[in-house]
Amino acid sequence: MHSEAARFNQEGFNANPVVSFVQPCDSFIFGDSTGRSNAADWIRTAYHDMATHNVTDGTGGLDASIRFAEEQARAENVGDGFSNTMDTAGALQVTRYISNADSLALLAVLAIESCGGPEIAFRGGRIDAGQPNAPGVPEPQQEMIGLVACGHTFGGVQHDPFPDIVNVLNDPTDTEDVAHFDSTFVTFDNDVATEYISGTTQNPLVAGFNDTTNSDKRIFGSDGNTTMSSFSASPEIFASTCADLFARMLDTVPSGVQLTDVISPLPVKPSEVNLILAGDIIQLFGLVRLWNMGDDPTRTVTMLWKDHFGGLTSRCATA
Ligand code: HEM
Repeated sequence: MHSEAARFNQEGFNANPVVSFVQPCDSFIFGDSTGRSNAADWIRTAYHDMATHNVTDGTGGLDASIRFAEEQARAENVGDGFSNTMDTAGALQVTRYISNADSLALLAVLAIESCGGPEIAFRGGRIDAGQPNAPGVPEPQQEMIGLVACGHTFGGVQHDPFPDIVNVLNDPTDTEDVAHFDSTFVTFDNDVATEYISGTTQNPLVAGFNDTTNSDKRIFGSDGNTTMSSFSASPEIFASTCADLFARMLDTVPSGVQLTDVISPLPVKPSEVNLILAGDIIQLFGLVRLWNMGDDPTRTVTMLWKDHFGGLTSRCATA
C-alpha cells in the first residue's frame, strides 16, 4: 500500500481503515481496561520518537528509533504505550512503501483527525533508524507551551509507571488509574486550556500533589499564561495552532531525510489495473477510486484508451 492510500482509504469501498482502531475514540485494544486509549498512545509515541532530535548535529527525530528495546527501557520512555503503538503500526501498514516512521506519523495524524482534531498536513518519506538515538532534547520554550497543550488534550498519567504523580484511584470506570489531563480526554478540544485558565483543571501535571512533577504548570505558565489564555478563548486558534505544531513535530526528521510534498487525495485514482489477453480479446479491468463523491448507482465512468503512441483510438465505458 502507498502512503496516499494509507492516509485516505479510511472509508468506502476497498478501504483499509486504520481509524477503526481509534473509533470510538476511547478504543483500547490491549486488554479490557478502562481509562486509556489507542489514540493517546499513538500521539505520545510520535512525540517521544521525535523528541530525540538533536538540532545541533541533525541526528534523531521521527525515525521510529523508539521501536528499539534500548530506547523503550529508558526512564524517559516509561510505560507500555510505545511498544503497543509500534506493534499496531507494524501490523497495520508498514510495507516497502511506508516505513515504520511514516506509519508512526500517520497513526498520530489519523488519531488526532478522527477524534475531533484539525486536519494535519502529512508528508511521506521518513527513513527508519537502524539503531537507537541519543536520549531526547527539549524543544524551545515558546513552542513547547503549544505542543504540550496540543498533546495533553488526549490521555493522562497512569499510576503504574508514575506512582509519585498519581495515586490509586479506585474508580471502576478507570481501571488503569489514569489521572486525565482534561475532562474530555479521548477527544481533541481546548478543554485542556479552558480548565487550566478557569482554575478547575484536574491535570495531574498542573494540580498534582507533587509540585516537582507539575511540569505542565511550569510550562503553561512560563509566558504569564498568554498562550494558554488565547487557547482558552478560542477553539479555532487552538485547532489551527495545533495543526501547525503537530505537522512540524511529525516533520522533524534526521538531517538528510527528504520528505515528500504534503500528500493530498487524488481526485481520480486507478488501482489494481490489469490488462489481459483472453483469446483474441484484450480485457482491461481494475478499480477507480473517486474522491469525495457519494454513491450513485447510475453514474457512468468513461475510460479513455490510449495506444502505445499516446493517441486516442477507442473508448470504453463502465458503470
Ligand atoms: C515537557 C514536555 C512533556 C512532559 C514532561 C510530558 C509528560 C507526560 C507524562 C508524565 C505522561 C503520562 C504517561 C503515562 O502515564 O503513560 C504524558 C502523557 C501524554 N503525553 Fe506528554 N509530556 C510532555 C509533552 C508532550 C507532547 C509535546 C505531546 C504531544 C504533542 C505529549 C502527548 C502526550 C499524550 C497524548 C499523553 C497521554 C498518553 C496516554 O494517556 O496513554 N506530551 N506526558
